[in-house]
Amino acid sequence: MSGRLLVTGAAGFIGSHACHAFLHKGWQVAGIDNFDPFYDRRMKEEGIAGLRNHKGFRFTEGDIRDVGVLEPAMRGADVVLHLAALAGVQPSIDDPESYVSVNVGGTAALLEVCRTVGVRRVVFGSSSSVYGDAARVPFSEEDPAVAPISPYAATKRAGELQCAVYTHLYDFRVAVLRFFTVYGHRQRPDLAIHKFTRLISTDQTIRQLGDGSSERDYTHVDDIVAGVMAAVDWTRQEGPVCEIINLGESTRVRLSYLIELIGHALHREPRVQVYPPAPGDVYRTCADISKAKRLLAYDPQITIEDGIPQFVDWYRTAYGHAA
Ligand SMILES: NC(=O)c1ccc[n+]([C@@H]2O[C@H](COP(=O)([O-])OP(=O)(O)OC[C@H]3O[C@@H](n4cnc5c(N)ncnc54)[C@H](O)[C@@H]3O)[C@@H](O)[C@H]2O)c1
Repeated sequence: MSGRLLVTGAAGFIGSHACHAFLHKGWQVAGIDNFDPFYDRRMKEEGIAGLRNHKGFRFTEGDIRDVGVLEPAMRGADVVLHLAALAGVQPSIDDPESYVSVNVGGTAALLEVCRTVGVRRVVFGSSSSVYGDAARVPFSEEDPAVAPISPYAATKRAGELQCAVYTHLYDFRVAVLRFFTVYGHRQRPDLAIHKFTRLISTDQTIRQLGDGSSERDYTHVDDIVAGVMAAVDWTRQEGPVCEIINLGESTRVRLSYLIELIGHALHREPRVQVYPPAPGDVYRTCADISKAKRLLAYDPQITIEDGIPQFVDWYRTAYGHAA
């Protein structure tokens, strides 16, 4: 299986891993990214540095809301992997308008360009946050997901609904993938595993939000990329449909246990100060992955007990100041 793929958000954490994996399988990959300043551009440059000279890779620096940039980038593509977004939960509370502009407006622009250039296969990177706090655990795609609790979650749900509209009106075949907290090499620095590793490795105090009993379904980026590749393959099948599919490990990891694992991998005793939970953060996530198993033969492999030491090893190599 190979072809021509456009990846939006190609220089980001998940996007850069996906580009590497598809190129490795012989795909022609066009990437687009505007190096949004949400975190250090150098980290994004590093993510795609090894690809710049790959003969199968073409990169455009630009904004997905700019049709004049997006359209030439998309020409010739068989399928689009749409990952570009403003991705943090807490910053979305401070700046909801930017989140709506990029995540809703950008997705609208992307789908319109898909329609005009004739690309009808789309894989959209959505989020477990769309389930909010009301959904039954494990989260099932059957849940209506109508009670998001942050602007970020609302914009991701809006993106999903936009995809469904393009299936209805224009026969798109779309896989909406709800990612559950993704981690691994080059994880975004705002996310807990990266942030805690940085703080513990330099003997700084962690701000633990809540009593440590909150739970996340942490999913290794290699498992996510395997699911994404299977979803891209799935879009080759016949028939217009928009399928929502959870991609998680289907495991609940307590925050207190996560901190313990990171401390253990760093050979450091974490210093923790407890603060109230942050508004907008859900208490618990956990994916029901039976649909992903059925449709995509998705089979996540990397447990948190293996993934954290791997992450810490990468962090040591990248930053050099861990124990
Ligand atoms: N990392 C996770 O845990 C997680 C969980 C659920 C969903 N997601 C979703 O997966 C996708 C990728 O997330 P990530 O963690 O790799 O985030 P990331 O911030 O590392 O990657 C997103 C990329 O999109 C780019 N971008 C932002 N606005 C853009 C614009 N207007 N035009 C072009 N490029 C733009 C950014 O520069 C960035 O490189 C996002 O859609 C996010 O909502 C991520």
